[in-house]
Amino acid sequence: MPIMNAPQNASNDLSRWIPLLLQIWRKARHNKSGPREQLTASEASEVSQGVQYLSQGLTRDRALIGERYLSDTVLLGAYLLYFWPLSYLQAREIFRHLPSTPRSVLDLGSGPGPLGAAAFDEGAKTVTFTDRSLPALKLAMELAKAAGKNAEFQNWDPIKHPLLPRAKYDCIAAEHLLNELWDDFSNRVEKRTELVLPWFERLKSGGHVVLIEPALTTTSRDLMGVRDHLVQQGYRLIYPCLCTQTPCPALAKPEETCHLEQTWNLPPLIRDLVRRLDFKKKTLKMTAFVFSGTDSTPLTLPAELFRIVSDPLLSKNKRIRLIGCSQSGRLSLALKPELATPENRIFLTLKRGDVVRILHASPREGGSGLDLLPGSVVELISRID
Ligand SMILES: C[S@@+](CC[C@H](N)C(=O)[O-])C[C@H]1O[C@@H](n2cnc3c(N)ncnc32)[C@H](O)[C@@H]1O
Repeated sequence: MPIMNAPQNASNDLSRWIPLLLQIWRKARHNKSGPREQLTASEASEVSQGVQYLSQGLTRDRALIGERYLSDTVLLGAYLLYFWPLSYLQAREIFRHLPSTPRSVLDLGSGPGPLGAAAFDEGAKTVTFTDRSLPALKLAMELAKAAGKNAEFQNWDPIKHPLLPRAKYDCIAAEHLLNELWDDFSNRVEKRTELVLPWFERLKSGGHVVLIEPALTTTSRDLMGVRDHLVQQGYRLIYPCLCTQTPCPALAKPEETCHLEQTWNLPPLIRDLVRRLDFKKKTLKMTAFVFSGTDSTPLTLPAELFRIVSDPLLSKNKRIRLIGCSQSGRLSLALKPELATPENRIFLTLKRGDVVRILHASPREGGSGLDLLPGSVVELISRID
């Protein structure tokens, strides 16, 4: 999956939300004022402890999965001031790949509402925020009100009351929700798929389902499993895979995964928390898929198109190697720098996420890959940054 730069306007737009996040957090926390865009030292100390605890429980030992951690005021504050901006940037990146701006958005498991906020900034007119945590929904409500947005709110528990609000939407999205559901069930992928399937019936014509998950090996692979079930049921996958109608080739190999990666422009609030916590976060990673609801005409892409899904590797025999994912699966692509020509030289500069057309390459013995030779042609079709 691609590596991409967070679009500049997303970072700018995020910087406009930061004072609101701080204002609402301070109001809920102690009603004292403070700096507009940053925390005071004592506030930062409280928030960073909360972030540490959440980070441990959500991404390392996963002990908080399924727990009502957003009912704890300190943890909800830490979520709002650290994870909200990250989720916002991730959602903004994915919204860029929808063919048109969704006017109505349903944000499922919204927490305090970063995906809905991203949807507003992409041009959505109304967002319905849903969550089982009322304190989180209250924050989403206050943020939408402070930003002057048209929002609705609904208490929704995907396990106990999975029925959706009655309306239809241009986009139904769940960000960092699915991995928290049925986490210790062996059939969790099937259960999550069953949860998602009825969402397609609530899409307006031309609408999309957006699924975003953390890029941990298990959470990525589980979402790739849901992807495969939805593809199998005939839903059209429009981003980011080029193998839109077949099972994910990465899932066929144990431990293999696929993710998107964004470089980011950190707002000072987050930069300070990252520094205090000594997090080694250089990029923002996620696994995400966009499905089209109603257009089930098969999408056929030329076999010579590849999305680069690895960083460049230098193989033992001094070839530059990249993994490319195409309509027919994942292949190792390689070029010896001394065999570079004006027609294939661009291969040596490719990055994760680029889409390229490769012609006249030589299939490697056993079908495991393609070797690029002086007669091969490599054409860059799209690069995100
Ligand atoms: C990690 S947060 C994600 C919040 C937001 N969508 C984001 O991307 O930042 C997971 C959300 O799922 C919600 N949720 C709803 N029902 C849940 C359930 N049964 N188990 C776990 N989490 C649930 C939590 O309340 C929480 O808001």
